[in-house]
Amino acid sequence: MEKGNLEVASYFLQRFVRNPIHIASVWPSSRFLTAQMFDGLRLGHGDVVVEYGPGTGSFTLEVQRLVDSGVDIRYLGVEKDPGMYQFLQRRFPQLEFVLADAVDVLKLCLARDLPPAAAVISGLPLIFFDSKTLHKLFAATRACLRPDGVFRTFSYVHSYPSRSAGELRGLIKQYFEEYESSRPVVRNMPPAFTLTGRRL
Ligand SMILES: C[S@@+](CC[C@H](N)C(=O)[O-])C[C@H]1O[C@@H](n2cnc3c(N)ncnc32)[C@H](O)[C@@H]1O
Repeated sequence: MEKGNLEVASYFLQRFVRNPIHIASVWPSSRFLTAQMFDGLRLGHGDVVVEYGPGTGSFTLEVQRLVDSGVDIRYLGVEKDPGMYQFLQRRFPQLEFVLADAVDVLKLCLARDLPPAAAVISGLPLIFFDSKTLHKLFAATRACLRPDGVFRTFSYVHSYPSRSAGELRGLIKQYFEEYESSRPVVRNMPPAFTLTGRRL
């Protein structure tokens, strides 16, 4: 593992030890899962991308790459953990982060006068969220997205049969006109797949 990746992973683990409920994973997502998270999104100039729970920035790195390649994306990362928030600000000084709860996303977008988002990507441990919070989050997410906008999250393969994972899939189908799940990304640890809801 490269030195930079090792630093990121060890910081991630430190925050997990301090707050296992919110961080919910001992290891950041892999580049293979990151590729699947952005698969087919076709982000272009002026598009708004909102990220929930960027953590140490596995998915954010892809946004940074797009920005570096000249795509003028307006990005907002919403992170609840103060340590992760500071880490992200240091790692990605060009991108905007806010220390806040993703449930407040609509208020956060309106306060910044952001146009409706092309994509909301989420690293939140949604299967641990209670039903009431999930309904609030999905209603707010839908309201932030433009008509062809996409919400994308991931779920671990081993949690597929659980009731909470089933509820999550059901809610995405309820709040979005189109629903899609990806093939499993077996090179992620643990293997995961993405879930997509699209507004029409
Ligand atoms: C499993 S980590 C994912 C990190 C990264 N996206 C990845 O895949 O490697 C979950 C992240 O969500 C953050 N988080 C948890 N609940 C949150 C909430 N309600 N609002 C914003 N961030 C939250 C945690 O602090 C943590 O950084």
